[in-house]
Order: sequence, then C-alpha cells, then structure tokens
Amino acid sequence: MRKKMIIAVDGYSSTGKSTFARRIASMLGYLYIDTGAMYRAVALACLRRGIIKSSDPFRMDMDGLQDVLGKCDISFSNNSGAEHADTFLNGENVERQIRSVEVSDVVSNVSSIPQVRAFVDERLREFGKGRGIVMDGRDIGTVVFPDADIKIFMTAAPEVRAGRRLKEMREKGNDSVTYDEILENLEKRDRTDVSRAVSPLRKAYDAIVLDNSEMTLDDQMEWIKSILK
Ligand code: DC
Repeated sequence: MRKKMIIAVDGYSSTGKSTFARRIASMLGYLYIDTGAMYRAVALACLRRGIIKSSDPFRMDMDGLQDVLGKCDISFSNNSGAEHADTFLNGENVERQIRSVEVSDVVSNVSSIPQVRAFVDERLREFGKGRGIVMDGRDIGTVVFPDADIKIFMTAAPEVRAGRRLKEMREKGNDSVTYDEILENLEKRDRTDVSRAVSPLRKAYDAIVLDNSEMTLDDQMEWIKSILK
C-alpha cells in the first residue's frame, strides 16, 4: 500500500490555501486540517471567557488563558476526503462564529502567544499520527511537521489576491469594502505574518513554491498531480 503522506501547505493569506489543500485531501482520501480554524477556535474560547482585556493594544489575562486552554477541546466533523468540514469547540459547532469579525480581529494576536502555539501544535501532531493528512497554515512545513513528505509554499501577487478577495466579498453581498482597503489590509497581514517573533511565515528550505497568480484551481490540481507522480 502507498505510504500515507503528510502534505504541508503554507503561504500568504488569501492565496487559496484551504481550497487547494481540501481538494488535495479529497483526491487522496486524506484528512484535511485547517490549522487557522484551530487558532480561530482558541480565540473564540478566549472571547467567550472574557479574558481578552483589550484588542488594541492587545492585552490578555494570562492566568485565564491557562484555564481556557485546559478546557479547550477542538475537533472537526466528517473531514476525511470531504470538501467541507465544520469546527467544533467542546462539542458545539462553531464554524460560523470562528469566521466572525470579532474573532478575525483578535486571532492574529492570540496566535502569536507561545502557549497558544504550543497547545495547537501538540494537537496538530496528534492528528498527523499514522494517517495521511493535508494541513494548511503558516508554519506547518517549518515548525509543526518539518519532516512532511511534501511541502508547498503558496504565493500570488498582492493585487491578484486582493482582486479575488473583493470578488468573494461581493458574492457574499458585502458592497461597502473597497479594493484599496482590501489590498491595504492584506499587505498589513503579510507584514504581521512574516515579522512576528514566534513561528513567522517563511518558506521551508525544502518547500516547493506555487505562485498561482495566473493559475486556476484546475491548473493547480494538474500541478500537484505531477508533483505526486
Ligand atoms: O488562515 P486563517 O486566516 O484562518 O488563520 C487565522 C489566524 O491564525 C491568522 O492570523 C494566522 C494564524 N495562523 C498561524 O499563525 N499559524 C497557522 N499554522 C495557521 C494560522
């Protein structure tokens, strides 16, 4: 039987990592793990417990954090080979809540706390034991699974990413946000991701770069099939 691989998909935000990673998992019948969703679930648990004292500047009650992490059980539903999976926090489906503006506003700061990263990393390594998985995130190929079988680093021109994000927002009925605002927000997030002290976003030395600025999802699937061969 073919070896069950660990496939790490890292890269900049809005490069289509999760859609691509999900598709690969579905094609191979592997488990797909959205690692950003885990950080979002932790951020939601912190918000609910009221331990985030201020979002700008960011302040957290660190004793409260230990307590929250001790009671945080995060899981995913039917994600083996599925194109979609919901995130559960202590048995409750929180898929919609973790995508809210409130969570998006604090998740980057929450994910920069070393204790939070240690908590998530430990769970991610558990998920990876003895089975085929595709994980997308920022530090999967560098920190979580430095021995992953295949490492992909996704990038695309900021203008292309902003254009895709704008289209997505318009489709969801959001007409107020402008292209320039999206581009600015995206470039700011890029800077935060690359410059943070703990597990910054960077390409693993052995990762293969996929610049999908001018590629469709089908093109990307053809690309990964040739890599898998
Ligand atoms: O991919 P996303 O937007 O859902 O990620 C949410 C946040 O979590 C984002 O601020 C980056 C952070 N993150 C991280 O630090 N490491 C990962 N492996 C995945 C996400």
